[in-house]
Amino acid sequence: MKFFIDTANLDQIREAQELGVLDGVTTNPSLMAKEGIRGRDNILKHYVDICEIVDGDVSAEVIATTFDEIVKEGEELAELHPQIVVKVPMIKEGIKAIKYFSDKGIRTNCTLVFSAGQALLAAKAGATYVSPFLGRLDDISTDGLQLIAEIRQIYDNYGFETQILAASIRHTMHVVNCAKIGADVMTGPLSSIDGLLKHPLTDSGLAKFLEDAKSFN
Ligand code: E4P
Repeated sequence: MKFFIDTANLDQIREAQELGVLDGVTTNPSLMAKEGIRGRDNILKHYVDICEIVDGDVSAEVIATTFDEIVKEGEELAELHPQIVVKVPMIKEGIKAIKYFSDKGIRTNCTLVFSAGQALLAAKAGATYVSPFLGRLDDISTDGLQLIAEIRQIYDNYGFETQILAASIRHTMHVVNCAKIGADVMTGPLSSIDGLLKHPLTDSGLAKFLEDAKSFN
């Protein structure tokens, strides 16, 4: 399972990278705005800065919503750095653009996916990644994990190579449950990765070992 961090914050990306288990980064316009990045040139530079910190894929989202504009913006993003994956919304024009990018060898992440049907369409169009937003489904009393399981079954039935990128992860149990279902990738905040470290028996066990080790001296 690949671990992506879902942020545009360079310090958090560095911290996750230093842990040695980071496989990539996802961003979106809200995350870029949160970091106060303004202006096209600064946004493009920020994507390159992220690529220089991590070794893996970095999703950069288009703002355009028509085929021609998505293609223009996506090609500009893809040319920035070999690690860039063009993030395209799950709309009709987006699906056409994903097919176009796929035919040209440009990698894509189909975002804002909330149903198995949308995920099927994204795979048919040749998306590299599909991003079902499980946290946002949970927020409205709908089982986000169930959606991940349905997509896994559909992709396995037909051997689709599109990778399931479980997005909108909110906490550590989302990560563990996505791993049990077989999501290819998870993207979440740094806290969802850090949470995997924690167990009180590890802490108390280590404290006892260190205490007993004092008798060695
Ligand atoms: C996915 O790529 C999105 O950036 C993200 O996971 C959305 O998460 P949120 O629901 O916490 O905003």
